[in-house]
Amino acid sequence: MTDNLDPRPDDLSQRVWESIQRDELPPKDDRGRMRVVMNNLILHLHPSKVAKPTLKFTYTWGLGGLALLLVALLSLTGVMLMFVYTPSPEFAYQDMLNLQTEVWFGQLIRNLHHWSGNLLVIVAFLHLLRVFFTGGFKTPREFNWILGIALLLLVVGANFTGYLLPWDQLAYWAVTVGSSLLSYVPLIGEPLRSFLLGGPEVGAATLTNFYGLHVAIIPLTLMGIVSFHIWRVRKDTLSIPHKLDGAVDGTEGGQVEKVTTLPHLVSREFVFALVMTGAILLWSVWVNAPLEAAANPDHSPNPAKAAWYFMGLQELLLHFHPVFGAIIIPALGLGALAFLPYQRFDLSAEGVWFRSAKGRRMALVGALTALIAVPLLVVFDEYALDLPGMLPTPPTLISNGWIPLAALLLLVIGYYDGMKRLFKATACETRQSVFVLLVVSFVVLTVIGVAFRGEGMALMFPWEVL
Ligand code: HEM
Repeated sequence: MTDNLDPRPDDLSQRVWESIQRDELPPKDDRGRMRVVMNNLILHLHPSKVAKPTLKFTYTWGLGGLALLLVALLSLTGVMLMFVYTPSPEFAYQDMLNLQTEVWFGQLIRNLHHWSGNLLVIVAFLHLLRVFFTGGFKTPREFNWILGIALLLLVVGANFTGYLLPWDQLAYWAVTVGSSLLSYVPLIGEPLRSFLLGGPEVGAATLTNFYGLHVAIIPLTLMGIVSFHIWRVRKDTLSIPHKLDGAVDGTEGGQVEKVTTLPHLVSREFVFALVMTGAILLWSVWVNAPLEAAANPDHSPNPAKAAWYFMGLQELLLHFHPVFGAIIIPALGLGALAFLPYQRFDLSAEGVWFRSAKGRRMALVGALTALIAVPLLVVFDEYALDLPGMLPTPPTLISNGWIPLAALLLLVIGYYDGMKRLFKATACETRQSVFVLLVVSFVVLTVIGVAFRGEGMALMFPWEVL
């Protein structure tokens, strides 16, 4: 009778290794082992093969990957900052000063965290635009688009809560202005604001609350949703780029050619991540994150501005009743964004940048219209139009809320109808033009708020603001 011998190797280290790595026996040298670990990790994130056309850099511009890289950089530098930071008004500002002067590479780590956080807002927004303009949200990716919107909101929330932590004048007043937007929510606005701030105004309790949100609640939620998002990209596969005539590069016998993820996709991702990390590092070596004087609740700067990504909303507040500027218009915008992938979509437009040649021209018209009309409307409202004065009888909720909103919606509907007829376009191309009109309008409002508003939030040229 033969012994039923354990077939595993005698070498204990080899046996331990095999107990960790389930599917592949590693070669005995260190490089071989490293390769197996990396392959295993990568093939959990990516499928083993991808469609060759999706490797084209000018399709995705690497924006989703860059957002992921920034999340990783932020986690790493954020944990480092936690070693030296105390979330209390007595110590927070002093900790910032110590970090910059006493801690080895402290200033650099703060700069990396600050700039990566701001860049992530821009990159997530650009990634949203890329997905929209290439039709990457189409079935079966509708829900991943919704997850993306949740990610964008979390990224903004992470930035906003982090803004307060240095406890300088910029932080204190930007958060005071930003959180005041909440009080305009009918009924629950004021209690919600008090809950978030831990009291009637920004103070010690706010710092504790924001710290908890910034280092634990938001990052954990963000990472959970990011994992879900990436898993869905893997399962749904990336949309495939098409040329204007509908052709796909690298098609063989009607089948899209596939290549192995390793090394084709991963080598590209690696080089891109290395270049971007280098660029962010260089920028952070040269440009310091701002730090003003210590927070002084008794001295409000003039103008008191929100963080730059809220300046579009702050600008809207100057033109509309607060309930409309802070709540109804942003809610309508978000609702429309979430509803977008559930609209009927022209299937031949998937993977084609801007849908078609006509779509491109119409998108350009949308952008130009916004670039010209928004500054004109802002100046007109600032110097000539006084709706509450012209209509003294109805409450301002109507004269400065419902009436201008209805007028703007009519203009947008008129634009949709006019463009559709003028270009003899499909609904899909026309919707895109309206989307461009609204997105560029929001960006123009943000630029006006950041660069063209000075003392008392009056309109000024940027050189006067400075
Ligand atoms: C923290 C923020 C985000 C991260 C880390 C992230 C990551 C990624 C990655 C790595 C990809 C695949 C590569 C690429 O398309 O570049 C991707 C695809 C996708 N993302 Fe995001 N994303 C984020 C935010 C968003 C936002 C704001 C949206 C839209 C509202 C969005 C919607 C999508 C969709 C629909 C796809 C599939 C696109 C296609 O198949 O063409 N993501 N994302």
